[in-house]
Amino acid sequence: MQLLTLPPSPSLATSIRATAQVFEDPRSQALLAHLQQVAPSEASVLIIGETGTGKELVARHIHDLSGRRNGPFVAVNCGAFSESLVEAELFGHEKGAFTGALAAKAGWFEEANGGTLFLDEIGDLPLPIQVKLLRVLQEREVVRLGSRKSLPINVRVLAATNVQLEKAINAGHFREDLYYRLNVVSLRLHPLRDRPGDILPLARHFIRSYSERLGYGAVELSAGAQAKLVDYAWPGNIRELENVIHHSLLTCAAGVIHAQDLRLSNLRLERQHTPAGTGNTVEDLLQQAFSRLYEEQPGDLYEKVEQALLRSAYQFCHYNQVHTAQLLGLSRNVTRTRLIAIGELVVNKRRAEVPPALDSRVVRLSI
Ligand SMILES: Nc1ncnc2c1ncn2[C@@H]1O[C@H](COP(=O)(O)OP(=O)(O)O)[C@@H](O)[C@H]1O
Ligand SMILES: [Mg+2]
Repeated sequence: MQLLTLPPSPSLATSIRATAQVFEDPRSQALLAHLQQVAPSEASVLIIGETGTGKELVARHIHDLSGRRNGPFVAVNCGAFSESLVEAELFGHEKGAFTGALAAKAGWFEEANGGTLFLDEIGDLPLPIQVKLLRVLQEREVVRLGSRKSLPINVRVLAATNVQLEKAINAGHFREDLYYRLNVVSLRLHPLRDRPGDILPLARHFIRSYSERLGYGAVELSAGAQAKLVDYAWPGNIRELENVIHHSLLTCAAGVIHAQDLRLSNLRLERQHTPAGTGNTVEDLLQQAFSRLYEEQPGDLYEKVEQALLRSAYQFCHYNQVHTAQLLGLSRNVTRTRLIAIGELVVNKRRAEVPPALDSRVVRLSI
C-alpha cells in the first residue's frame, strides 16, 4: 500500500502509526462493528469527533478494510492551506496556471486515484472550494487549474470534522448539498472521557509501542498511576494520552510508571486562559468553564447552563425559594416557575390537577 500524507502531519513525526488498535470500551466496540459494516462499501463517510479521538486512524482503518486497500490512501488537512493553495493542491495545476506554477502538478484527487482521499478538517474548506469539490464528486472528474481537459477519477472520499457541520451550515459557512454528499454514512467518535474503558488498554498499548521503540524492557503501571489516568478528563483525548505515556516513559524509574510520573495538564484551558490575563477571578473561572462547554458543544447549551445555575443556587439556599430568588436577582414567581420546569420543585399535586379555567372560577367565586 502506498502511504501518502500531504502535508506531513506534525504528529506523525512523533506518534506511532498505529497498526494495532484499541477498541475496548463498549462504545468503541459498537463503533468498530459499524465501521466494519460500512468499510467495504463505496459510501462516503463523515467522521465526527474532537481532536485526538482517532479520526485519521479510523479513516485508515476503513481504507484497509475496503476493496481499495491496495490503492493509495491520501490524507489532507483542509485547514492547513490558504484558499488558492488548497485549490491547486486538491485539483492540481498545469505549468503557468498561476505565478509560481513552474511545472504541472497532479492534485490530491489524482494522487488518490484508485484509492481513498481523506479530507481532514473539512469544515475549514473555503466556500468557493466547497462548490468545486461538490462538482468533482458529482461528475467524478477533475480539471487541473489552467487546463481544459477533464480527467476521470475513481476516488472514495472520507471526510472528518471536529465541529458540528450542521451549525456551520446554519451559519452559512458550509454548503448543505456538499454536507449530504459527504455524509452518506457518519461515524461519531466519542471523546475519551466518555469511553473510560479504553483508557488503560490504550495506555498499555502506548507503553508497549514506545518502550519497544525506546529499547526498554517491560514497563508496568502502578495502581496509583492507573487511578490517575482513569480519573483524568483527557481534553486532548487519545493524542494527549499518547503524549503523556511517552513522556512518562522518559522520566520514570526502571520498570514502573508511578502516579507522579504522569504529567497531566489541562492544556486547552491554560491556552485559552492566557490572553485573559491573571487567572483566578470568578469571571476567569467562569470563562474557562464556558470555553470548555463551547468546545464540547452539548447542543442545548443555554438551557444546560441555566439549569445548572438554578440547581446550584437552590441547593446553596437550602431549597428556600425566596432566598434563591434574592440570590439570583429574580422575582419569586419566575424562580418558582423555572424550578418547576426543571423538575426541582414538585407542584402541590391537588392544585396542579385543577384545570386552569376551573381554578380561576374558584378564585373569582371566593373574591
Ligand atoms: N483506537 C485506537 N487505538 C490505538 N491508537 C489510537 C486509536 N485511536 C487513535 N489512536 C492514536 O491516537 C493518536 C491520535 O489519533 P488521530 O487519528 O490522529 O486523531 P484525530 O485525527 O481525531 O485528531 C494517533 O497517534 C493514533 O494512532
Ligand atoms: Mg487528525
